Amino acid sequence: MRVIAGSAGGTNLAPVPKGVRPTADRVRESLFNSLGQFFDGGAVLDLYAGTGALGIEALSRGIDRAVFVERDRKARAVILKNLRRTRFVDRAEVIGGEVEAVLGRLEGREEAFDLIFADPPYRIAAAEVGGISYRLRSLLAPGGRVVIESGEAPVEVAGGRKGVTRRYGGTFVTILGRSELTMIVAVCPGSFDPVTTGHLDVIRRASEIFDHVVVAVGANRRKSSRLPAVERARLIEKVTSDFDNVSVEVMDGLLVDFAREQGARAIVKGLRAVSDFESEFEQAQLNRTMFPELETVFIMASAEHSFLSSSAVREIASLGGDVRGLVPDGILETVRQIYSGKDDKIQGS
Ligand code: PNS
Repeated sequence: MRVIAGSAGGTNLAPVPKGVRPTADRVRESLFNSLGQFFDGGAVLDLYAGTGALGIEALSRGIDRAVFVERDRKARAVILKNLRRTRFVDRAEVIGGEVEAVLGRLEGREEAFDLIFADPPYRIAAAEVGGISYRLRSLLAPGGRVVIESGEAPVEVAGGRKGVTRRYGGTFVTILGRSELTMIVAVCPGSFDPVTTGHLDVIRRASEIFDHVVVAVGANRRKSSRLPAVERARLIEKVTSDFDNVSVEVMDGLLVDFAREQGARAIVKGLRAVSDFESEFEQAQLNRTMFPELETVFIMASAEHSFLSSSAVREIASLGGDVRGLVPDGILETVRQIYSGKDDKIQGS
């Protein structure tokens, strides 16, 4: 292995330590061609650095500063040897430890990188690297790019945005910009007492627009409910288990505070009819006063759900009527049992 081009071009790199899968010279060459070949300053972060060949190639091609992260002690010694051979020691920092933990420390340093390489060993699945990719956004300088290599399949970035992937023999190289690393989270709040097929329709449609939807079950209802919030949340979990970008939480205070904690950009609400509008408009405006950056987005209920409400479900169930089709099939029996009690004190929507 050697440095391909730039100020240290042609320098032979130290032998690859056991267990490290280096990026082949021809893959590195193609990769740097697609990155524009040479750089005018900037910083590079080389994660799962191995021999450090990627970061060193970037230094050789004009990047000012490099941070290498490698958990294996022997591999770190090879990186240092390669930095001495190329005379880049003064422009580099080698950090030991697991990538996830080191990322946390780097986030605290307020340093931005123009290039971030992640070339993990085979034992780390592409999906796992896709998972950490969102954390890289805060470390990426404007206009910066993340380059992820994977052996068995292209990296999977949640939200379906995958950047540009090229295949070089058995290696997939994916290049992502900041926009592809942005995860837009929405909160879908409600009492869900109980969750109806109308709610589920809105949650599903929201999950197709946003990268992640947090269903927030209001715990501080003014009116008493037969079911505690945690039980209402469990019912929603049961009927949303097929959606891999939906999670369910109990919300205990102000919606805007909950949204902030979740890093959400939007509140999603379903609108059934004009009659819903007045109270929704009021809530949206109040929430906007408290958290102006948080948008409220309304999803129009499907026509077949426009008449459906939790209060109707509760009333029908409490009087022994059939709520099939009004609540998701998976919780039909549970809803029947819970809400059919004669001492039903539940009120409200
Ligand atoms: O299904 P619902 O009853 O319409 O849901 C109402 C809910 C839970 C969304 C609303 O009461 C709420 O946002 N509660 C949290 C407390 C809060 O933030 N109140 C101020 C909103 S104007």
